[in-house]
Amino acid sequence: MARLNPISEEHRSIQREFFRLDEDTTDRIRHMKPRLMRYAERALEGVFDHLVANPEVAHYFEISENITYLRAGMLAHCDRLFACRFDDLYYEATDQMGERHSKLEYQSHVYTAAYTNMLTRIIELAHEDRKKFSTEDLIALTRITLYDMELTVGAFHHHRIEKRDALNSDVVKIQHLLTGS
Ligand code: HEM
Repeated sequence: MARLNPISEEHRSIQREFFRLDEDTTDRIRHMKPRLMRYAERALEGVFDHLVANPEVAHYFEISENITYLRAGMLAHCDRLFACRFDDLYYEATDQMGERHSKLEYQSHVYTAAYTNMLTRIIELAHEDRKKFSTEDLIALTRITLYDMELTVGAFHHHRIEKRDALNSDVVKIQHLLTGS
């Protein structure tokens, strides 16, 4: 089960400030949320096409139920992110996502590339739309996406390190048992 990193609300708030996720930025994202969700849904098609075409990960995506399951999880995450609530549920979800990904055999660039493709495709779709995003809108979208990516990829590495440390500690215990030292 995913565990929330022991990080206080004050620390989280300092982190968000560092990413310049101020009230203006989060209000802007909330206001754009219906549009962002429409674009995210379409952008995901390209993300899955890209994943299916990549020999490192294609095997997982050859099963259509896997895509259906992941699409739902990814969209639910976009919904949580663009709501900008930054509550325990949101932070638990980012930790859980990092943990789930850390258990697969892929490296972190697979996830950061997917974030990059989602973000750039959303920007393209917004540009093609009648009502364009302003510079401030694009800045807000970039800030929130990179913040979320930092949390999920940070959790990914945290859980990988935790797993490696647990394995190392088991090896030491077995060595002690075998040598009797
Ligand atoms: C924009 C990037 C991504 C987001 C937002 C995202 C989101 C998520 C979420 C929320 C879950 C949990 C789903 C649930 O059970 O509710 C999940 C699981 C999973 N993700 Fe991702 N994901 C991303 C990229 C990727 C990529 C690139 C891969 C491909 C290698 C991937 C593979 C998986 C797999 C295989 C699971 C299921 C793990 C399990 O059942 O234990 N994800 N992802």
